[in-house]
Amino acid sequence: MTRILQKNQIKEAAEILKQGGTVIFPTETVYGLGAVFNHEEALQKVFLAKGRPQDNPLILHIYDKRQVDEIVEEVPTGAYKLMKRFWPGPLTLIMKKKKDVSSTISGGLSTIALRMPSNQIALELLKEVNIPLAAPSANRSGRPSPTSEAHLEEMQGRVDAILLGGDTDIGIESTVLDLTKNPPLLLRPGKVSLEELEEVLGKVEVYQGKGEGEASPGLRYLHYAPTTPVVVLQGTEDKIIEFIKQNEENNVYLVTEEVYDQCGDKSCVLFYPKNDLDHAAREYFRLLRSLDQQRYAIIYVTEISKTGFGRAIMDRIHRSSGYQFRRLE
Ligand code: TXA
Ligand code: MG
Repeated sequence: MTRILQKNQIKEAAEILKQGGTVIFPTETVYGLGAVFNHEEALQKVFLAKGRPQDNPLILHIYDKRQVDEIVEEVPTGAYKLMKRFWPGPLTLIMKKKKDVSSTISGGLSTIALRMPSNQIALELLKEVNIPLAAPSANRSGRPSPTSEAHLEEMQGRVDAILLGGDTDIGIESTVLDLTKNPPLLLRPGKVSLEELEEVLGKVEVYQGKGEGEASPGLRYLHYAPTTPVVVLQGTEDKIIEFIKQNEENNVYLVTEEVYDQCGDKSCVLFYPKNDLDHAAREYFRLLRSLDQQRYAIIYVTEISKTGFGRAIMDRIHRSSGYQFRRLE
């Protein structure tokens, strides 16, 4: 049985966690599936509920910078600068872990991922529990991360409680930065952009996917995969419009910015409002899930510029497509 808790029931949620239970809670990025970091059985329940491979490590969530010293062996100077500027907020830092931090959380690695969320419910919960919470995104492994209360349906019966918090604000997961590498390595782009990180740290390397398998175990697995296949369209605006017209009769669902003005028929749905990346991010996983329920044959997405927050959005789009491209020539 999964208890459904409202935001005025944070104390109940905290009690369940302290007793080794699992609780889904909102963060500013996506919903997380939490367990206290010092309870082996509770941690195992998290992997089980998600169907997550044991070698894919979890992120630890804290509410107070002083908790960093409980967890991290060496805090590099760059980390303090980043925490000052971006915490609480959507930035996860990977540092060397203390030996007594369970290797269940780190998936057997000697490093640990850490973040301080800015969502008020999350912060209040973390404060009430007063023990760091290990929390991956609260989806079944491989599914898009949950950004709405309705997305938590698939976790019913798999967790002890769900603490409701409405739609999440950012809509895609935190930026993950490995500070044990020199220069630091951006493993997962997010709302905190490469450009912002470089303002603070100088040079930051970007993880290039395939080949560097050990960097972040999570990157090895197919992610954000909706049931409906996603294909990324590449080509000029003219080619894309031509493509839509040819496909009108097949009820193609198009998620695109470029064709905003030209798109008048119902088979073409407008998703990226021009210049509003925040909206695009907030809506992308929601869109994938809602399309799954409508049984479209295919979802086409067009590319956007990989600068600033665009890098993170394109990352999720590419991954949800399983790197399926269609070049229009
Ligand atoms: O926004 C977020 O980060 C959300 C909310 C709930 O905080 N959490 C989240 O967790 O997205 P998860 O588990 O879905 O993604 C964590 C990513 C995975 O790709 C994992 O492999 C990577 O971070 N990761 C965790 N610890 C790591 C480590 N020690 N070294 C390298 N990668 C690590
Ligand atoms: Mg995840």
